[in-house]
Amino acid sequence: MATQGICPHQSLLYRKLACCYDPLFKKSLAGRIEQAIRSLHIRRGSQVLDVGIGTGHYLAAYPGHANVVGVDLSKDMLDIAAREIEMQGWRHIALKQMNALDLQFAANTFDYVMGFHTASVVDDPQRLMEEMVRVCKPGGTIVIINYFRTQNPWLAPLVDVVSSFTELLGWQTQVKYDDLFENPQIRVQDRYKTSSWSLFTIVVSQKLGRADIHDSQSQNEIRANRADRHTTCTNRFNHSSNQTKSGRSLT
Ligand SMILES: C[S@@+](CC[C@H](N)C(=O)[O-])C[C@H]1O[C@@H](n2cnc3c(N)ncnc32)[C@H](O)[C@@H]1O
Repeated sequence: MATQGICPHQSLLYRKLACCYDPLFKKSLAGRIEQAIRSLHIRRGSQVLDVGIGTGHYLAAYPGHANVVGVDLSKDMLDIAAREIEMQGWRHIALKQMNALDLQFAANTFDYVMGFHTASVVDDPQRLMEEMVRVCKPGGTIVIINYFRTQNPWLAPLVDVVSSFTELLGWQTQVKYDDLFENPQIRVQDRYKTSSWSLFTIVVSQKLGRADIHDSQSQNEIRANRADRHTTCTNRFNHSSNQTKSGRSLT
């Protein structure tokens, strides 16, 4: 889903205008991200990956007892993050220029995988999610903060109008929640907004282990069977009540 032929990371905002990102957006984005990170109570020694880390204006929220790797396609954004890391003397945070759609990490490497406001910017949000899930350890945590396409039929056309502007910034407004989270390998644990009027949703999910996937598939099958049985019983009941009421079968 590229935005009108612009490859989003090539948006001027992430290159020549990278220095404008923090002055323009830090105030509105950082609080939410920091709150989401702190609420995880990241365990000592955890391996953390942050995809599309950008200028890393919220890096102070990562605890010094975790090892954090931030990746981004844009060297200009990473340069700003690198300067801050050096200034603060943060030895627990490393940066790599890398495509989040083709992560150069082995499967099951990280305890936490974060994607803050990145799904709207990459060419293929579903692929991003697949990669995030792949590199996350079973039992690990995946956190996405993003704007998801509104289901509200009144708001949707309004958002479409605004989207022609946001696409210039490399942001699309069409990412659907289900496209990212209807994935049998993960279980959504929490989904919330930091205020009722916020456009952005924070979604915390867990990567399931093989046994859990099997369990959750079995649970789904049991639920589907129950629903089937319920439908059959209801049909039977309706059928027999129809017979009783009319004295003859309607089928
Ligand atoms: C909206 S910014 C978000 C930055 C930061 N996470 C935040 O919340 O402020 C999106 C970032 O994703 C990066 N990006 C876009 N496409 C990418 C890709 N395919 N791989 C890695 N980073 C990408 C951009 O360079 C940009 O820094």
